[in-house]
Formats: sequence, C-alpha cells, structure tokens
Amino acid sequence: MKILLLGKGGQVGWELQRALAPLGHVIGLDQDGSVQHPGLCGDFARPSALAETVRLLRPDVIVNAAAHTAVDKAESEPDLARRINATAPGVLAREAAALGAWLVHYSTDYVFDGAGDQARLESDATGPLNVYGQTKLEGEQLIQASGCQHLILRTSWVYGARGANFAKTMLRLAGERNKLSVIDDQIGAPTGADLLADVTAHALRSAQARPEVSGLYHVVAGGETSWHGYARHVIAWAQTHGHALQAVPESVLPIPTSAYPTPAKRPLNSRLSTQRLQSTFNLTLPPWQPGVERMLAEVLG
Ligand SMILES: NC(=O)c1ccc[n+]([C@@H]2O[C@H](COP(=O)([O-])OP(=O)(O)OC[C@H]3O[C@@H](n4cnc5c(N)ncnc54)[C@H](OP(=O)(O)O)[C@@H]3O)[C@@H](O)[C@H]2O)c1
Repeated sequence: MKILLLGKGGQVGWELQRALAPLGHVIGLDQDGSVQHPGLCGDFARPSALAETVRLLRPDVIVNAAAHTAVDKAESEPDLARRINATAPGVLAREAAALGAWLVHYSTDYVFDGAGDQARLESDATGPLNVYGQTKLEGEQLIQASGCQHLILRTSWVYGARGANFAKTMLRLAGERNKLSVIDDQIGAPTGADLLADVTAHALRSAQARPEVSGLYHVVAGGETSWHGYARHVIAWAQTHGHALQAVPESVLPIPTSAYPTPAKRPLNSRLSTQRLQSTFNLTLPPWQPGVERMLAEVLG
C-alpha cells in the first residue's frame, strides 16, 4: 500500500510517520516537500501543485495532517485559512476520487457552537464560532461532496510530546509564578497525537476491507475536564514526581472565558461522543489522564 502523508511535521503528522509505517510505503511531505522530494509539492497554499503531486505519486491512501491551526491568527487571514483548511483538502478529495484512493482527514470540535453540556454526535448540527472552525467545516463538506472514500476524524485539544503544548506552557508558568489563572468553563478532553495516529492506523487498516465504513467520526480520549482541571492535573503530577515548581495545584485559580478575551471566540462545550468510532472499528478510547501523564514523563524525564 502506498500512503501519501501530508503535514508530516505537525503534532499528529509526526506521530503518523511512526504509526502508518507498518501499513505500507509512506511518502511524507511537509510544506516544503520539494526539499526532500524534488518535483513534489506539500504546500496547501498551492492546491493545483498539490493535485499534480497526487497524480504523479498515485497513492492508495492520502493522509492529511496539514492545517492552518493558528485559531486566533485565522481571524485576520481568512483567505489563507480557507485555502489550507478547505480548498486544498477539497482538491485532495477530488484527486482521491479520481484514483479510487482513500483520504484520511482531521477536523475539529470547533465546527460546533459549544452550546449545552452534552457530548456532540457526528449527526448533530454544526455552527462554527470562528474562521478556523468555519474553514474546517467547509473542508469536511468538500470531502463529503467529492465522492471519495474517506475517514474524517474530528478531534479536540490535541497535544504531542514534540513542540509546544498547553501542558508545557503551564509547567513553565508554574516554574515562574506561585499563582496561575486558567479558564474553567471550556470543557473537553485532552487528546494525544500518538493516540490519534494509532487510532488512524487501526481504522484505516480495517477500512481497506470495508468500504462501507467511509464517513465522519469523532475521536477524543475518554472523560472530560476544563483547561483549569487539565492545568491542575499537570502541576500535581509534576509535583508528585519531584519537579520543583513555584505554583501548587491549589494555586491554579479558575477564571471564566470572558476574563481572557481572544480574537477568535471558542466553544464552551467541546465534548464529542466517540461511540460511532468505537463500535464501527471495535476500538477503545482510554481516559485522557494516562496519555497526558505519559507525555509529561517524556518531556520531564
Ligand atoms: N491542535 C489541536 O488542538 C487540534 C484540535 C482539533 C483538531 N485538530 C486538527 O488536527 C489536525 C492536526 O493538527 P496538529 O495538532 O497536528 O496541528 P499542527 O501541529 O499545527 O500541525 C499542522 C501542520 O500543518 C502544517 N501546515 C501549515 N500550513 C501549511 C501549508 N500551507 N502547507 C502544508 N502544511 C502546512 C504545519 O506546518 P508548519 O509547522 O511548518 O507551519 C504543521 O506541520 C489538523 O487537521 C487540525 O485542524 C487539531
């Protein structure tokens, strides 16, 4: 099986390089794909060059981990966000349909408006609150309309051991200050890029023999918390494991979203139901805490 992996250097892309390797021959490209692979393009700002690359490689599967993920920045550059999050994935889907290839694509809980306190189903009405969510929704719709076989995996609150993440920021701040204020009215599930990549590989393998599973799925770790609960958990773990910090879990203070204004509005309810994924692919999604603790063990040593 020939797999074209796009966005290979991002949090999820990095883990996919590992998780997809046993499935076949993986050709990974990042934005500047031409450096390692002259003549190929991995730049989502250039959809027609991307299409040309797909036609040249003729993969059996395209896995798209690239996206414009700078949620606040997207508010001031909607055209670029739309090209990367919607137009380019739409072009990939069209090429996948022409080749008979599968397309795996990631989307977000930000396609929802965040109202209520129930976990959202794949069939629930969408209503994005910001440019990032709107363009990600348009990407989903273009893929669905293309007729290609696809797995669209909506996730939330993604972290990876590599690069910056919320937990590392909290640890840095807790090392510098004895008090932190963190939002406590946005609820979701921190989800490891490693878990997402492993679920992708299992689902993709199963999908090869079952074209009828093509569709939209929610994939997040089990359980739920707020950013405040997440921060406290991270600081408590570090404390228990002997890392000296100025702040203790009790000095992480809860604040409402309204006290921390950002250019992009965020949904309060990021809960996603994963029943559909778990039953279709016979997979289990573990609680969020062990994954976060594993990442902390990796980054703190
Ligand atoms: N992070 C989250 O909390 C979260 C939540 C829900 C859903 N998701 C979705 O999960 C997927 C993976 O996200 P992630 O967390 O791995 O994000 P990430 O770490 O920000 O990775 C995104 C990747 O896309 C690349 N990229 C940006 N512009 C590009 C362009 N013009 N052409 C090609 N590549 C480009 C980035 O490259 P550079 O680093 O070089 O810019 C980066 O490697 C995305 O579809 C995202 O929407 C993420």
